[in-house]
Amino acid sequence: MADNNQNTGAENAPVKPKPAAPVAAKPAAPGAAKPAAKPAAKSDAPSGGVYKPPVVRAETNPYADSRVSPLAAWFQERFYVMMPIIDYLKKKEVPKHKLSFWYYFGGLTLFFFIIQVVTGLLLLQYYKPTGTEAFASFVFIQKEVPFGWLIRQVHAWSANLMVGMAFIHMFSTFFMKSYRKPRELMWVSGFVLLVLSLGFGFTGYLLPWNELAFFATQVGTEVPKVMPGGAILVDILRGGEDVSPETLTRMFSLHVVLLPGLLLLVLSAHLLLVQVLGTSAPIGYKESGMIKGYEKFFPTFLAKDAIGWIIGFALLIYLAAVFPWEIGVQADPLTSAPLGIKPEWYFWAQFQLLKDFTFEGGELMAIILFTIGAVVWAAVPFLDRKASREEKSPIFTILGLLVLAFLVINTYRVYAEYSAL
Ligand code: HEM
Repeated sequence: MADNNQNTGAENAPVKPKPAAPVAAKPAAPGAAKPAAKPAAKSDAPSGGVYKPPVVRAETNPYADSRVSPLAAWFQERFYVMMPIIDYLKKKEVPKHKLSFWYYFGGLTLFFFIIQVVTGLLLLQYYKPTGTEAFASFVFIQKEVPFGWLIRQVHAWSANLMVGMAFIHMFSTFFMKSYRKPRELMWVSGFVLLVLSLGFGFTGYLLPWNELAFFATQVGTEVPKVMPGGAILVDILRGGEDVSPETLTRMFSLHVVLLPGLLLLVLSAHLLLVQVLGTSAPIGYKESGMIKGYEKFFPTFLAKDAIGWIIGFALLIYLAAVFPWEIGVQADPLTSAPLGIKPEWYFWAQFQLLKDFTFEGGELMAIILFTIGAVVWAAVPFLDRKASREEKSPIFTILGLLVLAFLVINTYRVYAEYSAL
C-alpha cells in the first residue's frame, strides 16, 4: 500500500519504555505430558467471597518518571495503560498538497455538531414538547428568555451549516478517493453520520409546532405509505394515522435521545478511525512528488482547524443575527395546508424526484431508485476496486459528478419553483 497508508504511524512506534508484561502462567510445551490432576486452583476459587484473578497484573507505571505537571502525573498514574495510545496519536501527521484545504471540512462538521449539543441543551431548559405548549414555549424562548433568541437562531443555523459541511466533506473525501483501502469503514461510518444528521433535521423541524413544520411533516411522513408495509412505518413515526401531538412526542424523543446517542456512538468510531489510520493523500500524489511535506496533527493542524472554527463561528453569529428564522403561526391540524409547503433544503433533491415521477406507481419507483442509489453510494469503497489498488478510477469520479449534479440541479429546481410563489 503506497500512498493511502503512509501515515498509519506503524513505523513511528513510541520509543517510551514499554509497560512491564503481565506475569502470566507459562504455557506447557507442545507434547508435554498433561499434569495428572489440576492442583486446587486457589486463585480462581472465591475465598471468603473475594474473587482473585488468575493473572498477576503489572503494578509499576513505566511512565512514572516522565516530566509532566503534578495534575498530569496524577492522571498518568491511573491511566498509564493508555499512554502508548496517546504517544501513537501524537505522531499523527497530515500531508500538505494543493487539495489539503478540503481536510478542514470534517473538523467544521464536528464543530457545528458540538454547537448543536450545547445550544440544544440550553433550549431544553425552556422547551415543552406538548401540542399545547410547544409553540408557546418557542415564543417564550424567542421573546422573553435572555439571549434565548440568539440560542434558538444559532441552533437553527448551525443545523443547516452542519449538514452543509457534512455534504462538502463527503464529496471532497469522495473525489480524493479517501474511502479506499484501508479506510472503507471511515466512509461507511461517515455515510451513517450523514443519514443521522438528516434525521436530526427532519425530527427537529416539527418541534416549534408551527404551521409550516406541521404540514411539511405530514407530507414527509406520508412518503413511505407507497411502499409495501410502509403504512406500519408511517403509523409508528406518527404515533397514529395523522400527524398529531403524539407525533411531536415521538419526534422529540428521537431528536434528543435516540439520534444523539447513535450519532455519538458512530462519531466515536469515525474519529477513532481517523486517528488510527491517519489522513490519506489523493492517489498518485506521493509518487509524483506532489506532497510538499507533512505537518503534525497536534498542534499544527489542530491550530489551523481552530482558525476554521473561528471563521465558522463568526459566520454562524452573523447569520443568526442578520437572517433570523421565523417562528410562524401555531400549527392547527384543522386548517388546510397553506401554499408552498416544502421540506428543508437538504431533502429538496428527493422531493423533486417524487414530484417528477407523477405517473402511476411513480412514487414507489422514485423511492426504489433513491434507495438503490443510496446503497450503492454507501458501498463505493467496496465497488471501486481500482482505487483500492492505488490506481485512478475515472468511472467513480464520473459517478460522483453525476450524483453531485443530480443533487444540485434538483435542489435548484425546488428553490426556483418555490421562490417564485
Ligand atoms: C457528522 C458528520 C461527520 C463528522 C463530524 C466527520 C468528521 C470527520 C473528521 C474530523 C475527519 C478528519 C479530518 C478530515 O479529513 O476532514 C473525517 C475524515 C473522514 N470522513 Fe468524516 N465526518 C462526518 C461525516 C462524513 C461523511 C458523510 C462521510 C462520507 C460519506 C465521511 C467520510 C470521511 C472519510 C473517508 C474521512 C477520511 C479522510 C482522509 O483520510 O483523508 N465523513 N471526518
